[in-house]
Amino acid sequence: MTARGKFITLEGIDGAGKSTHLAWLVEFLRRRGYRVVQTREPGGTPLGEKLRGLLLAEPMHLETEALLMFAARREHLGELIWPALERGDWVVCDRFTDASFAYQGGGRGLSAEKLAQLEIWVQGGFQPDLTLLFDLPVEIAMQRMAKASRQLDRFEQEKADFHERVRAAYLARARRMPERVKVIDASQSCALIQKQLEDIFLRY
Ligand code: TYD
Repeated sequence: MTARGKFITLEGIDGAGKSTHLAWLVEFLRRRGYRVVQTREPGGTPLGEKLRGLLLAEPMHLETEALLMFAARREHLGELIWPALERGDWVVCDRFTDASFAYQGGGRGLSAEKLAQLEIWVQGGFQPDLTLLFDLPVEIAMQRMAKASRQLDRFEQEKADFHERVRAAYLARARRMPERVKVIDASQSCALIQKQLEDIFLRY
């Protein structure tokens, strides 16, 4: 019987550099011989990507936003994440449920109880095996975003206090679940961050 693969998620405020580290991590794990599926939330399936288009562009009630995030997640788990893990593949996912607690909970103010109900409904007790939280001061993240040449999405356009609440919610979750959520100082150089990631996976 093939062993179940590992589910690794990457989190952080917008502008933390998560995407760069994700690409490096996927290559690193492949070099170590794992079959790796790279995916993202919201998204990861044809329907999920359509929902992502709406979520990132259309103004909506904060509960609608949370429900659509979890609807996309339900599809993602059933169509892609669970089958891949069953096959023995590793799944590296750009954001997952911690982002709902950080953005819809911390950022927008939706109650943790409602989010916990959705979490139980959609994923039962299923959790990532490991979550890498790329943390840095909001001011630096916003400077990085301001330099981006592309159009910023609905979340990236939020003001500093929104991003501060998202960051605080992420850090509070990391403090509550230190075994699963590893905080990485994303203001360091890429080389230092990669060294830290290597160390985490050597011990893993
Ligand atoms: P992001 O992952 O930052 O993608 P990119 O950097 O490629 O644009 O964008 C996704 C956005 O969705 C991000 O701003 C956070 C938001 N989001 C939530 O608000 N709740 C969630 O549950 C998830 C998964 C994402």
